[in-house]
Amino acid sequence: MKSSELRQSFLDFLKGKGHHIVPSAPVVPQDDPTLLFTNAGMNQFKDIFLGARQITHLRVADSQKCIRVSGKHNDLEEVGRDTYHHTFFEMLGNWSFGDYFKKEAIAWAWELLTEVWKLPKEKLYATIFEGDQADNVPRDDEAADEWKRQTDIQPDHILAFGKKDNFWEMGETGPCGPCSEIHIDRGPEFCDNDDPAHVCQVNGGCARYIELWNLVFIQYNRDETGALHPLPASHVDTGAGFERLVAVIQKKASNYDTDLFTPILTQISDLTGKPYSDGEEGVAFRVIADHLRALSFAIADGAIPGNEGRGYVLRRILRRAARFGRVLEMHEPFIYKLLHSLVQVMGDAYPEIVQRKEYIARVIRAEEESFGRTLDRGIEIFEQKAADVLQSSETVFPGDDAFVLHDTFGFPLDLTQLMAEEKGLTVDVAGFNTEMEKQRQRSSRAHSV
Ligand code: SER
Repeated sequence: MKSSELRQSFLDFLKGKGHHIVPSAPVVPQDDPTLLFTNAGMNQFKDIFLGARQITHLRVADSQKCIRVSGKHNDLEEVGRDTYHHTFFEMLGNWSFGDYFKKEAIAWAWELLTEVWKLPKEKLYATIFEGDQADNVPRDDEAADEWKRQTDIQPDHILAFGKKDNFWEMGETGPCGPCSEIHIDRGPEFCDNDDPAHVCQVNGGCARYIELWNLVFIQYNRDETGALHPLPASHVDTGAGFERLVAVIQKKASNYDTDLFTPILTQISDLTGKPYSDGEEGVAFRVIADHLRALSFAIADGAIPGNEGRGYVLRRILRRAARFGRVLEMHEPFIYKLLHSLVQVMGDAYPEIVQRKEYIARVIRAEEESFGRTLDRGIEIFEQKAADVLQSSETVFPGDDAFVLHDTFGFPLDLTQLMAEEKGLTVDVAGFNTEMEKQRQRSSRAHSV
């Protein structure tokens, strides 16, 4: 099944269960100051859950564009190093606004995964919330019972976990609740964790067991003081990671081996003259392909690289991608050219990137050009300093050097940290912050003269 067919089959299935299909909201939230980027399908329905907006449909489904690079949900560090985290991804979701609840959400997810998409039942696991005393939320026995009643999942494949894994919240405040996740065991050959103490298991931190779908039972609102308040009605908010589903259904080991990514990787290969391979170059291919998607969709939806807030997040992403371009020996702007293959893959589902293609390319190219002027010299300086540190058998890259890279060469701190980490070093962040503060004071004195 092609990725476009899979997306459609999700929507068709939910339509058959009485859901109204809506378009994805933009990745730049329209009226939610608590978020820099849309980080989940439920964001656009937050006010409905809180009872602050009227509903026109009790059941809704969509494929939502999400970006997870800041705040509570941030997958940036994993991107490229593993094969199943992304800064930008699509989330297939269905919602019930005070209508159906756990029983139907569980039964339909199981039906779609096992009857329609034919995933092997014996490889699937369901997790439920074990409860939390501090929040005064009980164990979710109701969900566990529905798994037993509505499905033929192996009873010993229903597992309970704590707040970190099975209580979902979009941010520090807002609608939230216990959740039940569906994971798949892809087999021991997928384990990518080389810690000798590692044991493959659900939520165990390797690519063997991966989460496919999260069914959230929205029952509370968390306020600014951290207190939970039960909502007047109970809702369902589900989210399935589309790229992972495509990988599992297309029987690919990596999300990047699916038809969502291969045209982009092929174009990177054409432009760089290098094959997509293992090792650092493979990481660079994946990071560039991933970051291209986040940048393009964010720019299409109105964000623009800059020095603050949302704009700085985009600038950081672009600078990371540009630096990984150097790993592939690309010294001229080239990321903007990849819009061509991205539009091929995603243009039908998201026409905004077709309509704004020229504009997106111009913005990316301008950023690549401006960072390109200082990037090579910055890398040289970083290499010298890192060599000095390693030669003196130290493990910390000095904060004042990280500051110079930031201030003079435009290296965001997280880029220097990433480069340091590749050499087994950490960056003295406190020292970096001290230099930043000194600079702030210098510039405010200069302004007050
Ligand atoms: N909100 C949940 C998540 O993002 C399910 O959609 O995982």
